[in-house]
Amino acid sequence: MTGKPFEVFLTGATGFLGHYMLAELLAHPHVRCRVLLRSPVSKSSARLTRLLGEIGLNLPSLIVEGRVAIVEGALPDSLRPADISGVDLILHAAGNTTFHANGSGEPAKTNIDGTRAILDAAASAGIPRFVFVSTAYVCGEQVGHQLEVFRPTIPQLRNDYEQSKWRAEQLVWDWGQRSGMATICRPSILFGDSRTGRASAMKGLYLVAKATEILARAMDDSREMDRHHISLRILGRSDATCNVVPIDWAARQIAEIALEPATESSVHHITNPDPPTHQEVKGWLEDYFDIAGGRFSDATWPLTDANHYEDLFYSLGNICLDYFRDGLTFESQCAAKLSPGRRLIDGSSFARCLKYAQATHWCRTPSGEKDIHPPSDSFDPTWYFEHFLPEAVPRSVVAKVEELTAIVQYTITGSIGGSWISRFDRGRLEETNAVPTTLKPEFEYRLSYEDLVDVVACRKPLQDVFFHGSAEMFGDVERALKMVPIIGEFLKEFPVNGKENPLMECRTGVAC
Ligand SMILES: NC(=O)c1ccc[n+]([C@@H]2O[C@H](COP(=O)([O-])OP(=O)(O)OC[C@H]3O[C@@H](n4cnc5c(N)ncnc54)[C@H](OP(=O)(O)O)[C@@H]3O)[C@@H](O)[C@H]2O)c1
Repeated sequence: MTGKPFEVFLTGATGFLGHYMLAELLAHPHVRCRVLLRSPVSKSSARLTRLLGEIGLNLPSLIVEGRVAIVEGALPDSLRPADISGVDLILHAAGNTTFHANGSGEPAKTNIDGTRAILDAAASAGIPRFVFVSTAYVCGEQVGHQLEVFRPTIPQLRNDYEQSKWRAEQLVWDWGQRSGMATICRPSILFGDSRTGRASAMKGLYLVAKATEILARAMDDSREMDRHHISLRILGRSDATCNVVPIDWAARQIAEIALEPATESSVHHITNPDPPTHQEVKGWLEDYFDIAGGRFSDATWPLTDANHYEDLFYSLGNICLDYFRDGLTFESQCAAKLSPGRRLIDGSSFARCLKYAQATHWCRTPSGEKDIHPPSDSFDPTWYFEHFLPEAVPRSVVAKVEELTAIVQYTITGSIGGSWISRFDRGRLEETNAVPTTLKPEFEYRLSYEDLVDVVACRKPLQDVFFHGSAEMFGDVERALKMVPIIGEFLKEFPVNGKENPLMECRTGVAC
């Protein structure tokens, strides 16, 4: 590269991958980056400052030096021509990684419409090169060796996310035929930094790890089961692989591919040539969490005869099953450059990533970065726990659960928080008191106000907030876990619409 500044327009800079890619791009002294940040920019830039700070970069200084400029915007809104004029390359890494479509129109809105919007802007502004971060799993259900080629016909895809990325690839490739040079990078599953274990988002294989941690915590208090002989069927083959790649390696490969001059449109797999098998991951997880006993099984989900431990593991962990694949390998030019015998992920780097994940409470976002201002028509937790629950529980499925005798604490953190303790006796809710109270809880659920609002309105499944959100369990975790499906049923029976008014209506039509 010459001494002339090389201008990159980067989307998704605040993401798990994006901030590592920004750091890799900036490691090249002639590169300047314009980063698209969503509003409010004060919050997005504070988040980006923290993320870059954690990997040794100072965003305010980079802005002062003219190496980074911030552009405010959100996809699929159109970009202003001035935002991208003069740019040498667009590196489009923004994406929505929700697997299944929800009421908000995601992941199609960001991944398909958003990509179309930015391609249109690129065509109008005459940008010569467009690099798109896709996924290795646009191959869908296909098995065998996947070549680094554009795939013009749609394979059998497994979820809405893969579908949206496949459609976006079509748009990008078409753009390459008409308007410039298209480069598609397809990473497999991103995992923590190979050097430090650091990650800024817990997805993919982390969900399996978190389900295992919850199971291990349940074992801490279990009187019924030996933690080294847990009766758990692991669905799948022991030799199936999980194609995970370290985030730092993936980001470096994509940045290098992007900065390398291109003479034609191309596709690149950012994949692991020697990925861990099911058996290896099982062993690494068992060593780390000091549990054992699971055995591989060719049973399929859902298990009709699941035992209690399988219920626990899969009620929280069945979302992980998509990540292990049989008989799938990838052609990859960048993987071919690895020194022979060097594994991208091994037992010790895996353990380092788990250690980091646990130390950061599975990457919880610092509370100062969350939107702490509730909407003006805010939902009132005091009303929910002290009035709504005593009214609704006796008419719900909970009242039928004779085995439910427990003293449970709910702690809501954030701007409208509080703590309440309920005493259940054979399914009957005998009392609920705000803390301080003389009741001594046996276990506790703790979650943020924002997650509570989503959970009671059934916008998010309870299990999701234990994985992706703020929820945690304390005390007798095994009993807390046993109660999760019961609470889930209650929430479905008595959803609330999230307004503060105590006359709030239940969607069941029952006056509450
Ligand atoms: N994670 C994986 O294992 C994996 C594997 C293969 C491929 N990929 C692909 O890699 C890319 C990055 O993934 P990631 O895991 O880093 O995701 P991530 O952590 O969720 O980050 C997503 C980034 O995209 C931005 N974004 C999302 N929707 C947007 C919108 N509508 N307008 C503007 N910006 C938006 C986010 O901004 P905010 O911070 O404002 O939300 C964030 O910067 C995605 O394209 C994904 O499909 C990921």
